[in-house]
Amino acid sequence: MKRVIFTGGSGKAGRHVVQHLVEHGYRVLNLDTKPLDNPNVRTLITDITDSGQVFNALSSYTGLHEFDADLRPEKIDAVVHFAAIPRIMITPDNEVYRINVMGTYNIIEAAVKLGIPKVIIASSETTYGIVFANGHRDPEYFPLDEEYPVDPMDSYALSKICNEKTAQAFARRSGTDIYAIRIGNVIEPNEYALFPGWFAKPEFRRRIAWSYIDARDLGQIVRLGIETDGLGFQVFNAVNDDTSSDLPTAELLRRYYPQVAVKGELGEFESLLSNKKTKEMLGFKEAHNWRKYVTPTS
Ligand SMILES: NC(=O)c1ccc[n+]([C@@H]2O[C@H](COP(=O)([O-])OP(=O)(O)OC[C@H]3O[C@@H](n4cnc5c(N)ncnc54)[C@H](O)[C@@H]3O)[C@@H](O)[C@H]2O)c1
Repeated sequence: MKRVIFTGGSGKAGRHVVQHLVEHGYRVLNLDTKPLDNPNVRTLITDITDSGQVFNALSSYTGLHEFDADLRPEKIDAVVHFAAIPRIMITPDNEVYRINVMGTYNIIEAAVKLGIPKVIIASSETTYGIVFANGHRDPEYFPLDEEYPVDPMDSYALSKICNEKTAQAFARRSGTDIYAIRIGNVIEPNEYALFPGWFAKPEFRRRIAWSYIDARDLGQIVRLGIETDGLGFQVFNAVNDDTSSDLPTAELLRRYYPQVAVKGELGEFESLLSNKKTKEMLGFKEAHNWRKYVTPTS
C-alpha cells in the first residue's frame, strides 16, 4: 500500500482528491486545521505555518487508530500539498501571502529533508495574471500553457508563483520530484447545477477563460503525478479538455478577447488553458466532461 500525506484534505478540492486516492488503494493521512468527514482517512490537526508541527506530522504514523498494534512511522511515498488560503479577499492580503508562502516552504523543506521522494503542490490558474487583475487584462496569447511568462498583480497568485520557485529550488538542490499543479476552477459533482446559469451569462467566467477541472479528474491528475517518477521540477495545468461554456471557443474569443493572438489550432470547444503537457507527460484522460451532466442551451 502506498502512503500519502495530504494537506488541506478537508477543503473543497482536497476532499475529492483524497477520496480518489483512497479508491485507488492509497492510505492517506490528512493534515488540516479542520477535520475531514471520511471514515477511511484520519486528520491530524496541524498548522502548516508552524515548521515544528510540519516536521513532526510528516514523520508520524499514518494509520487510522491509536490502538493499532504498531504505531511507529512508516515510509511515506508522497506528500500532496493543498492547504492554503484559496483566493484573495478571505484574509488580509499579507495573510494570504504569509500562510501560502510559509506553509508551502515548510511542507517542501520538511518533505525533502525527511527523504520523501515525491511532492505535489497546488498552484493556480491565477498565476497567469488575468483572474485577479485590476480591470480587464488581455493575456499575451491563448491557450495559456506552462511556458507562459506569468506576471500576476495580486497577493494570492504571487504567493503561488513564489511557491513554484520554492519547489524548483528544492528540486534542484535535492533531486526530489516536485510537481506544481496549476489548478483551474474546481467543479464538485453538485456544482454542475450552476452551469446553465453560467451559459446565460458567459461574461461572468471571462476572467478564468471559462476553465474548469472536475474535482474527480483533478484526483486523477494528482494520482498520475504520484505515479510518474523522475521528472524533477515540473508545472502542469489541471483543466478539462473543453471550456465550461456551451459557446464555441472561437465565439468566446471573438466576443471577449478579440485582440489576443491564438497559438495553433483550437478544437471547437477546446479549453483556453492547455492541458496538452498534462496529457502527454502524465497520461491524463478526462473522465468527467461537463456534457455528461449538463445539457447545453446554445
Ligand atoms: N477551488 C479552486 O477552484 C482552486 C483553483 C486553483 C487552485 N486552488 C488551490 O487548491 C487548493 C485547495 O483549494 P480549495 O478550493 O479546496 O480551498 P479550501 O479553502 O476549500 O481548502 C483549503 C484547506 O486548507 C486548510 N488550511 C488553511 N490554512 C491552513 C493551515 N494554516 N494549516 C493547515 N490547513 C490549513 C483549510 O482548513 C481547508 O480545509 C489551494 O491550494 C488552492 O489555492 C483551488
